[in-house]
Amino acid sequence: MESVILVAAQYGQSDVLQTIRNTLPPLAPGMARISVKAAGINPIDARRMTGEFKHSALPQAFGTEFAGVISELPPGTQGWAIGDDVLGSGNGFTHATVIDVPLSNLIRKPKDMRWDVAGSLAGAAQTAMTILDELGEISSLLIHGASGGVGSILIQLAQEREIKVVATASERNQDYLRAMGASATVYGPGLVERLRLIQPQPFDASVDMSGTEEATLASLATVKADGIVATIAGKPVSSPRVQAIWVKRNPKNLQHVVDGLATGQLTWEVSQSFPFSKARDAYAAVLGGHTRGKSVLIFD
Ligand SMILES: NC(=O)c1ccc[n+]([C@@H]2O[C@H](COP(=O)([O-])OP(=O)(O)OC[C@H]3O[C@@H](n4cnc5c(N)ncnc54)[C@H](OP(=O)(O)O)[C@@H]3O)[C@@H](O)[C@H]2O)c1
Repeated sequence: MESVILVAAQYGQSDVLQTIRNTLPPLAPGMARISVKAAGINPIDARRMTGEFKHSALPQAFGTEFAGVISELPPGTQGWAIGDDVLGSGNGFTHATVIDVPLSNLIRKPKDMRWDVAGSLAGAAQTAMTILDELGEISSLLIHGASGGVGSILIQLAQEREIKVVATASERNQDYLRAMGASATVYGPGLVERLRLIQPQPFDASVDMSGTEEATLASLATVKADGIVATIAGKPVSSPRVQAIWVKRNPKNLQHVVDGLATGQLTWEVSQSFPFSKARDAYAAVLGGHTRGKSVLIFD
């Protein structure tokens, strides 16, 4: 079977992206072949494109998450059937028309869940769950840059655990943050004073999605002396007190978010959908760093 795969043979802006046609090898044991319907784009994809992260040799392929339809299975596979609608984390890349994924990564897509939502869940959902698992027992949390993919679901999952959330974003996203239950303020000059007005007591913990020095300084000024100051941004930080958190893949964590969306207890915003043929536009938009909720590639 043939797959059309998004690749880049050099680092740069989105004009380095191109598609190639590859004939896939026979399906390996333990894998499912998926006809991709939708695949979220994460900042890590765009940051790998530019060469900020050099995770893999060139030419490189992209994408960490997908939703699609099982088109082939190893003989005798239990629990799954050709034609099942699934979602999950990929295996190296997902921005392609057909991908092979370990059976252990598959989560059943709820019947009523939209493809763009299903395809954009795995990265941000598992990251947000990892953050909460690593922060442990806390009752207040400051989130810097909370209107994007990770922050949007983190606000909601924190409240499930009865954690009070104060979150930052630009002016245009203040009502969006509040609608998810956070107390909201804008980032920028005067941030510490605004945070202290909202939350006079020091926070138990903070986590930064933006990677700015302003966020680090604001956290150091407003988090308890023995509290946790964390970042997921993967950018240099000026204080040894800042702990980096990296996503841990865990299908149970992803299933928790899928169930919450299926029952309506959680919400998920896809603000930008692009056809696969417009992947360059999609990557340029994500690289801009102001996605509300998620950006997604849609396949025919
Ligand atoms: N460590 C890991 O395992 C891991 C996993 C996933 C993601 N990440 C990284 O974590 C970061 C966030 O991911 P994401 O998917 O949530 O990104 P995203 O969807 O692009 O969201 C970025 C957020 O940052 C805000 N922002 C932009 N400029 C800001 C500034 N100067 N100060 C404060 N906030 C600002 C944006 O808000 P406005 O639009 O309102 O400005 C938006 O809410 C990315 O750098 C990503 O690469 C790391």
